[in-house]
Amino acid sequence: MDPMLESLYGMKKEDIRAYSRHLMIGGGTRPAPMIIRGKGVWLEDIDGKKYIDCTSQSWAMYLGFANEELTRTVCEHTRNITHVHQGFDTPSRFALAKKLTGLAPKKINRVSFTVGGSAAVEGGLKIALKNRPEAREFISLYDAYHGTSLGTMGSSWISTRSMGKFIGGSRFTRLSRQFIRVPNPYCYRCPLELEKGSCGMMCLRILKLTIEKGINGPVAGILMEPLQASGGQIIFPKEYLQGVRDTCDEYGIPLIWDEIQTYCRIGTWFASGYYGVEPDIICLGKGLGAGYPIAATLISDDLEGFSPDSEELHTFANNTVSQVAALKLIEMLENGILENCNRMGNYLRQQLKMLQKEFPGIGDVRQAGLHIGVEFVKDPVTKEADGERLSGVRSFAMDHGVIFGVGGMKRNVLKIKPPFVITEEEADRVLEVLREALVSVK
Ligand SMILES: Cc1ncc(COP(=O)(O)O)c(C=O)c1O
Repeated sequence: MDPMLESLYGMKKEDIRAYSRHLMIGGGTRPAPMIIRGKGVWLEDIDGKKYIDCTSQSWAMYLGFANEELTRTVCEHTRNITHVHQGFDTPSRFALAKKLTGLAPKKINRVSFTVGGSAAVEGGLKIALKNRPEAREFISLYDAYHGTSLGTMGSSWISTRSMGKFIGGSRFTRLSRQFIRVPNPYCYRCPLELEKGSCGMMCLRILKLTIEKGINGPVAGILMEPLQASGGQIIFPKEYLQGVRDTCDEYGIPLIWDEIQTYCRIGTWFASGYYGVEPDIICLGKGLGAGYPIAATLISDDLEGFSPDSEELHTFANNTVSQVAALKLIEMLENGILENCNRMGNYLRQQLKMLQKEFPGIGDVRQAGLHIGVEFVKDPVTKEADGERLSGVRSFAMDHGVIFGVGGMKRNVLKIKPPFVITEEEADRVLEVLREALVSVK
């Protein structure tokens, strides 16, 4: 083994504690285990303890950890070339652009690659601004998360007062003030306190009123996740998304979908396949490169794209390793792994619904592919959020070898978003630990 790797793998907890004063960590739920290696859905920590990871490490590792087939392909490629400047052509860049646009909605035919999710969203904002030269402001939704770059922070919940101690973004909004937020269609817990069915889609009416009366000048774009992830695993009603689409058409506003978490994870390549509604701009990141950093902004034929006079230039925007990984991932998804994502997602939903009958503290189960949220409540009638119990359940599960995520503005939504390679046996273990946790933590 390379001696540098050997010394790295041999580091002790005391070394790490001593070195930690040199590191700044700006986010992430802590404390968390010290991860040494992984295989499939499993992670192993420095003490040799194993965990099933239902967070897929930032929800990004669709193939899980140390996937042999992916690793073989990527290693073979790295012997030829790795990073290439954006101005030079590489076959993998063209092949990935062709493949992605072939899977995307019909009108979406051009891609710009970039380095991370926030940059991909900013790419989408830039395209919208370019196509709406008079417009200055964007509309985003309550409880949205679109990143922590200076350009995206103002659209994310971390800049609001809604999340107690997780409000870091509010310190930087001096440079990110271009977003007006409107109510999200969170039907289980409507921000307008209306009931689904009799609400008259008030959230959509407020969106329209905001466009007409709440903004100075035209709207540059409407930015939204088609299924809000960190906001609480909120699946939007199709009628709402269709209403937003119609509104954008009526006012000539570009509709930007942040698909950084939905890409493939909701069981279809793009969210248009799930909802039957299409945006004008799509932003991708996270899972796109199977763990290798790559992100993308995709745009419709109706929009003017980037021009090569440095409108969008990033050092690592043409990373061939990530492009190859993204292509290999798509090939593997096509060969059964996307199907497993759907199969295991449905299986988990059925089992969680059964658990809900037994435990009234489970207020709602929301599932699309392996994008699953379980909402914890004190009482299923009042729906009072129970973030405290969820926090206890999460710790119990961590101690018993299952890592769950937490989301929602009230920190009461358990997130189950494992790698797509999860087996039924592994899913059963996840459910078993969740059940034990619900029995133990009152
Ligand atoms: C929906 C969504 N948009 C944007 C981002 C930002 O991506 P990144 O962290 O790669 O900048 C995230 C990250 O969690 C996300 O979940």
